[in-house]
Amino acid sequence: MVRNFTDEPVSATQRDRILANALHAPSAGFSQGWAFLVLEEPPDRDRFWSATAGEQDEPDSWLAGMRRAPLLVVPLANKDAYLDRYTEPDKGWTDRDESRWPAPYWHIDTGMASLLMLLTVVDEELAACFFGIPPDRISPFREAFGVPSAYQPIGALAIGHRAPDRRSPSLRRGRREAAEVVHHGQWHAPSAT
Ligand SMILES: Cc1cc2nc3c(=O)[nH]c(=O)nc-3n(C[C@H](O)[C@H](O)[C@H](O)COP(=O)(O)O)c2cc1C
Repeated sequence: MVRNFTDEPVSATQRDRILANALHAPSAGFSQGWAFLVLEEPPDRDRFWSATAGEQDEPDSWLAGMRRAPLLVVPLANKDAYLDRYTEPDKGWTDRDESRWPAPYWHIDTGMASLLMLLTVVDEELAACFFGIPPDRISPFREAFGVPSAYQPIGALAIGHRAPDRRSPSLRRGRREAAEVVHHGQWHAPSAT
């Protein structure tokens, strides 16, 4: 993830490729219960940051860098699209009972679409950061852009051209080793050493 951007715009061709690839994400029952709010015009981007950046945990330098991103994409998940899809005859879950779902696939699929956008960003030699919208900023966000309540933003992507930035302090945690998280044949507890 990159959290600071130059003034250089993302071209329409790059933007369209990023979004086209998002639509090729896999989805449960091919429900495709996602939507993408794309913000490029400076007043629209300002409206996004005014609505969402009220009580950020992040420092001001984070916001200053992120605000420079010329392209924002907000991926939204529509749970109803999944519940509706699975009432169809080939699935038959007509009770719409959410306990049938082993995991909230509406969030998972929208997350997969987000990763495809991030990978396309890398392929286009652009840079991006996926970040969360604080829970108390979701309503102001919806109001600012007329987003229906059925659509839940799972986060947002700031996309642009890389400028020097400060890496996330979280990276100090180090990357977990395969031996710690991959279990071959049987679940093995990591050794205590
Ligand atoms: C679901 C999710 C939420 C994240 N939220 C934020 C965020 O709110 N602010 C931020 O600066 N980075 C955020 N990140 C980026 C992570 O901090 C980053 O992916 C992680 O530190 C690993 O760094 P890397 O992606 O550069 O390898 C988020 C990433 C994910 C996947």
